[in-house]
Amino acid sequence: MKKFAIFARAAVVVAAAAAMSAPVLAQDAPKGDTAHGKQIFLSLGCFTCHGRSGQGGALNGPAPILAQTALPFDAFKGQLRSPSNDMPAYSEVLVSDKDVADIYAFVESLPGPRSPKDIPILNN
Ligand code: HEC
Repeated sequence: MKKFAIFARAAVVVAAAAAMSAPVLAQDAPKGDTAHGKQIFLSLGCFTCHGRSGQGGALNGPAPILAQTALPFDAFKGQLRSPSNDMPAYSEVLVSDKDVADIYAFVESLPGPRSPKDIPILNN
């Protein structure tokens, strides 16, 4: 009986580890609420460095473009939880996983930079 309990517990740990290590790709990202994501993006001040259209900025150091981000969701969230360099960290107390998913949906919805080909005056 005791042996079984230990085995069962080990199986749970293995299953949990497998779930945690499974990469979350953009198409697997939790469905976010774009409008709410925009609100948080503005109220938390992401825009002060990354720009209102997620265009990136140099004002407070080189903050990358977020519009149409190529980052998978887990990397995006990882940057908020433990930034790679100068960006301030945003713990779960400040911004829940659900909020991060909403911000992700918002920045994915932004058009991002246009190709010069699509700007008529540049093709004259
Ligand atoms: C004080 C300026 C600042 C603020 C505020 C800020 N960031 Fe950043 N962010 C940066 C900088 C600088 C980087 C480059 C990496 C680093 O320094 O950690 C970055 C990197 C990122 C990246 C990685 C992008 C990539 O393509 O590598 C994401 C995602 C991101 N920020 C999201 C956010 C979100 C969402 C918020 C608001 C909750 C936010 N940031 C607030 C400055 C900022």
